[in-house]
Amino acid sequence: MTAVDLPERPAADGPAAVVTGASSGIGLAIIHRLVEGGWRVFASVRREADAARLAETFGPALRPLLFDVRDETAIEAAAEAVRAELGGRPLMGLVNNAGMGNPAPFLHQPLSEIREQIEVNLLGATAVTRTFGPLMTARNGRPGGRILVMSSLGGVTGHPFAAPYCASKHGLEGMAESLRRELSVDGIGVVIVAPGIVATPVWDKIADRDAHRFDATPYGDLFADAMSRIASEGRRGLSPEAVAETVWQALTEDRPRPRYAPSRRPFLEDRLARIAPRRLVDRLYARRFGLRQGRRGDASR
Ligand SMILES: NC(=O)c1ccc[n+]([C@@H]2O[C@H](COP(=O)([O-])OP(=O)(O)OC[C@H]3O[C@@H](n4cnc5c(N)ncnc54)[C@H](OP(=O)(O)O)[C@@H]3O)[C@@H](O)[C@H]2O)c1
Repeated sequence: MTAVDLPERPAADGPAAVVTGASSGIGLAIIHRLVEGGWRVFASVRREADAARLAETFGPALRPLLFDVRDETAIEAAAEAVRAELGGRPLMGLVNNAGMGNPAPFLHQPLSEIREQIEVNLLGATAVTRTFGPLMTARNGRPGGRILVMSSLGGVTGHPFAAPYCASKHGLEGMAESLRRELSVDGIGVVIVAPGIVATPVWDKIADRDAHRFDATPYGDLFADAMSRIASEGRRGLSPEAVAETVWQALTEDRPRPRYAPSRRPFLEDRLARIAPRRLVDRLYARRFGLRQGRRGDASR
């Protein structure tokens, strides 16, 4: 990655935002967009090497923060550093983007893997929001910034083999809906960004896992087949830059919508699953994943 063209306005004067999960994919595109727009960005990563790479690429407009969203102590230390650097100015944006998925047949997935997805996607965003939220409160009658959560189509519907991921994203959306109403008294806006399929490194991470580890279950090779199809669909998804543009809108529009759902195929990837009768959506998923009753995989054929 080469150094980015920095805006004319010194970022120290611009509004400040914290973005989690900035090492790659959507998070990386978001910090790029915010720095380009003259914001001061605090970007969370988990590895020193990523922190050094971002510092070198973005220069003084960006300060890396090192924490895993499951590590409360590290999040608190990062929030203290941000508080000190803001010197009494409010934080204007908090983008809860860090997240992960680990698809599997639910009944055969170890509980530790299910727990990890809930801990990172839902409890991680919870801890980050609770810790950085107090930096966002309105002062002197000014509006108090915006909290964004990175949900997914899985935040309103359920994909087969992604029950923990969808549970975490449904939870995130429920939390955001409550907070939007509750935090309005502090002048803090809360916005859900729920992209469809986005072409990010997440699909390589999914493709790199051993999808055949479930071959001995009644699903046989059906799961591995579904994963290779999903990973190749993912690589043809919306660009992370398009999602970053939506995040920019959500942070800067005077009256942001409560929920944005950027997608390359909005009808197929968003609207259909939300408005069609549930049983019809069941049949569409069954066809897409080869999940007919009585046909599970090689082992049961
Ligand atoms: N790609 C899609 O199709 C899609 C669609 C809808 C929603 N989303 C959501 O968009 C967000 C970003 O995903 P992406 O597609 O850009 O994937 P990605 O490239 O894999 O980025 C995920 C980011 O989250 C970070 N992260 C993962 N676990 C973490 C933890 N425990 N603590 C702190 N950071 C952690 C990763 O850091 P490391 O590099 O250290 O692992 C990385 O920076 C996620 O919330 C995802 O659910 C993605």
